[in-house]
Amino acid sequence: MRYLTSGESHGPQLTTIIEGLPAGMPLHDTDINNELARRQKGYGRGRRMQIEKDTVEIVGGIRHGYTLGSPVGLVVENNDWKHWTKIMGQEPLAPNEEDEVKRKVTRPRPGHADLNGAIKYGHRDMRNVLERSSARETTVRVAAGAVAKKLLKELGINIASHVTEIGGVASSVKAYDSLENLKEITENSPVRCLDPEAEKKMMNAIDEAKQQGDSIGGVVEVIAEGMPSGVGSYVHYDRKLDAKLASAIMSINAFKGVEIGIGFEAASKPGSEVHDEILWTEERGYYRRTNRLGGLEGGMTTGMPIIVRGVMKPIPTLYKPLQSVDIETKEPFTASIERSDSCAVPAAAVVAENVVAWELASAIVEQFYSDRFETLKELVEQQRTFAREF
Ligand SMILES: Cc1cc2nc3c(=O)[nH]c(=O)nc-3n(C[C@H](O)[C@H](O)[C@H](O)COP(=O)(O)O)c2cc1C
Repeated sequence: MRYLTSGESHGPQLTTIIEGLPAGMPLHDTDINNELARRQKGYGRGRRMQIEKDTVEIVGGIRHGYTLGSPVGLVVENNDWKHWTKIMGQEPLAPNEEDEVKRKVTRPRPGHADLNGAIKYGHRDMRNVLERSSARETTVRVAAGAVAKKLLKELGINIASHVTEIGGVASSVKAYDSLENLKEITENSPVRCLDPEAEKKMMNAIDEAKQQGDSIGGVVEVIAEGMPSGVGSYVHYDRKLDAKLASAIMSINAFKGVEIGIGFEAASKPGSEVHDEILWTEERGYYRRTNRLGGLEGGMTTGMPIIVRGVMKPIPTLYKPLQSVDIETKEPFTASIERSDSCAVPAAAVVAENVVAWELASAIVEQFYSDRFETLKELVEQQRTFAREF
């Protein structure tokens, strides 16, 4: 499966085309809209999230509630476009309109794509960079992920996420009864955190950052239960599922690190406290006493829950001055802001969940025959039985 996205932050719409989905899979726009709404929530978001109420329009590949096997086209309109039609329009501008209309950006923000993108593509107006490097694009990545999530759900694979740290405040709740229970708690938490004490402190930290014109980052954890064992492969570097998951997390705007299972903690522990002992019962087949390696060994699933964490740096657009240089005058200046969030970690957890869903669904579609969804379902079930009886 693959998808491309197109669209600028203040353009008319964001678009994605998904290719490679099986035919006969149920899919409704509500499956996607639920995920889009989850991405827009979260304590610490700025005004943009009040302007945009994202909803998807399915423009291809679905008939009467089922995929056709043809590419699925999804469109999310930018409600703010009406205020940007001149600034972001496709028509050439008359020379006398240039300065007035373009809202030209010549002051790069440290930590954003502005300066490097301008140098790379030769843009003297960095709006040409920031309109696409903006995390607004994650809207359609979530839309594509929502489709993948639907596929996983139909195959009995459940996926969720939670925020484990914001601005140095860590959640101390690591256990949860079930993924459903985790979802229930996090959906009602403004910061998507399992720990009510930490939740309050995280919200205070966000308020404080906002007051000081600053921003804060954090850590999110994604969990997927129900993956059959043996998905992915050890035989070649580009088929390793852990590598694909790491790449997916790192591709989210502002993500600077990934861990699978206990991750970096493994550096300070002996092997006997890292590797997951193998047990067997007739009823369950093979399983592990622990799940420190986060459901992945040798680039393949073990059948235990997949656990992937990602760290998000603080958002680069600050109200608090940071020094930079105007590319026209070469004069130093401090701070120029587009509208900005002070913390987007809760939203980023939803993005992470959806990009992980995409990789897991793609790995399944790649590994099993997947033209017909009903057959794919049977094959995944067969793989579970095979692994249990092996
Ligand atoms: C959900 C989400 C929302 C974001 N919102 C903002 C924002 O409001 N302002 C900003 O400067 N950066 C924001 N970012 C981060 C930038 O998009 C990101 O830092 C930028 O694209 C540069 O890429 P890099 O940080 O990966 O190097 C956001 C990221 C995510 C995941």
